[in-house]
Amino acid sequence: MCGIVGYVGTKPAQSILVNGLARLEYRGYDSAGIAIIDGSKIGVTKTAGRVADLISSIAADQGSYTGSVGIGHTRWATHGAPVTKNAHPHSDCSQNVAVVHNGIIENYMQLRDELIAAGHTFTSDTDTEVVAHLVEQMGDEPLEIIVRNIMEKAEGALAIGVVRASDPDLIVAARRGSPLVIGFGDGESFLASDIPAILEHTRRIAIVGDDNVVSLTPGGVSITDLAGNPVEPVVRDIEWDLESAERGGYDDFMLKEIYEQPKALTDTLAGRIDDHYRIHLPELDLTPREARAIDKVFVVACGTSYHAGLMAKYAIERWTRLPVEIDIASEFRYRDPVLDDRTMVIGMSQSGETADTLAAIEYAQAQGAYVVATTNVVDSSMARVADSVLYTRAGPEIGVASTKTFVCQLVLMQILALYLAQIRGALDGATVEVMAKSIRALPDQVEKLLERADDIMEQARKYTDVKDVFFLGRGVSFPIALEGALKLKEIAYVRAEGYPAGEMKHGPIALIEKGVLVVGVATKSHLHAKTLSNMEEMKARAATLFMVLTEGDTEGQRLADDVAWVPPAPELIAPVTAVIPLQLFAYAISKAKGLDVDKPRNLAKTVTVE
Ligand code: M6R
Repeated sequence: MCGIVGYVGTKPAQSILVNGLARLEYRGYDSAGIAIIDGSKIGVTKTAGRVADLISSIAADQGSYTGSVGIGHTRWATHGAPVTKNAHPHSDCSQNVAVVHNGIIENYMQLRDELIAAGHTFTSDTDTEVVAHLVEQMGDEPLEIIVRNIMEKAEGALAIGVVRASDPDLIVAARRGSPLVIGFGDGESFLASDIPAILEHTRRIAIVGDDNVVSLTPGGVSITDLAGNPVEPVVRDIEWDLESAERGGYDDFMLKEIYEQPKALTDTLAGRIDDHYRIHLPELDLTPREARAIDKVFVVACGTSYHAGLMAKYAIERWTRLPVEIDIASEFRYRDPVLDDRTMVIGMSQSGETADTLAAIEYAQAQGAYVVATTNVVDSSMARVADSVLYTRAGPEIGVASTKTFVCQLVLMQILALYLAQIRGALDGATVEVMAKSIRALPDQVEKLLERADDIMEQARKYTDVKDVFFLGRGVSFPIALEGALKLKEIAYVRAEGYPAGEMKHGPIALIEKGVLVVGVATKSHLHAKTLSNMEEMKARAATLFMVLTEGDTEGQRLADDVAWVPPAPELIAPVTAVIPLQLFAYAISKAKGLDVDKPRNLAKTVTVE
């Protein structure tokens, strides 16, 4: 959840750390801080607020710290309010140690009590501060040994970076669960929670393994496991340019990412549908015989990924006839689901780091299930845990609201469902071909749809002051209704409810009256007439109707106050285009209200705590 950056070399650390933090703000932006070794002492500047506030604080300190070794942090609060005293880095009693941390130290209360009993004084409400005092408590031992001991003592998922005034050329870092990468430079080394933070300085990157401890000096990096055995880093040259992780001329990352959807879909489909419209998924490491032995599928995910998972349920069941259960990951992991070695569990996560989804697939694997992870982040924690990994290839997604990764998750699940149907003989070749052709048409269809984005946003802005919105859909349009409501809630702060259209009459219809906006997702399907009847019911109670309709649907148009048109597609493929007007709808309202679409309040891009 939080973002960590570290630099050790010969250049002034301050600007490297601050720039790195700016690229990590999507991980949390409650507070920010840096610690730089300056001669024989450590200078710490930190503040509640964003990296911009940190820059002001540094200016107020007259940019006092000129050293070439330091660590920085941007926080998403877990323990302790988002105020300056809880901002990282945290220090020990003598101010000789500074610590940054991502994750949760679950037994911090016990450690804190022991340290207080030993005479330490705490100045924050965080779990992190115990690490600084533990370093102090362990005295003059080499810092690497101390950090190994701390990793043994601390329970939970955590990544830490530590500097000590008596080690002026050293950062020691470690991780368990929470992500951490190291970068290799000439006469300098880098540390970060995520690659974009250090990409402008080096392209030679290695992922830090679980329970590994890393010592970074200007001369290089050494890694050990918790027993002190050396670990050889797997160094990779990162090909993406920094530009691809930046806004590229758009006002916000979210809008840029909406417009990147055709390319993201093309990349996600590459190599997966051949010229004969057969489906290929070599990454699914199952023989056809093993795939045929699967008798039940679970999909587990959170947030937007859960909505993609819900669509997957419809597609897998319809095309393979395998029963599919869909679960919110935080429910699945504690509800004792019935799993065995014939169960496939698909964990879906853009980041591959979501704590609940990661724990859910680990649980499923321990029960003997075959675990497939779908994620957008290569080498993410879920990718490393799973038996097979299917990557969406959407490129880095920085906006907190998922957009391009969602449509890529949808097509990846369509591909997986067709692939399973193909090898299980559940669909004939002609049907697979029709679906595959329609999927292949999606990047162009989305491109054309986005040419009308300004019109859709213009329509949406009429509803800037709306207070109550229902998003309704039936069948495979229901997950899209849920996703439309989530987008509006998270970036425009409008109370919005996604509901199955046919269920409204069982209660929620009591809320429908003049002034309520109903967004109906009513693309052509075998339920189309029923959805229109449900929309009639809303209209009869004076709701305003904004409808997503398939081009040419005059019957739907007759009902609607506003229409966003999407191209014709088979029922199970249509969600990919149907969601795009809803992304634009939420974006336009958020912007019209003057909100920060990329960093909505109370949210973080990656949720690595329970
Ligand atoms: O990285 P994940 O896909 O596992 O993240 C799951 C949710 O936190 C995420 O989809 C969240 O709901 C987004 N902010 C939605 O836009």
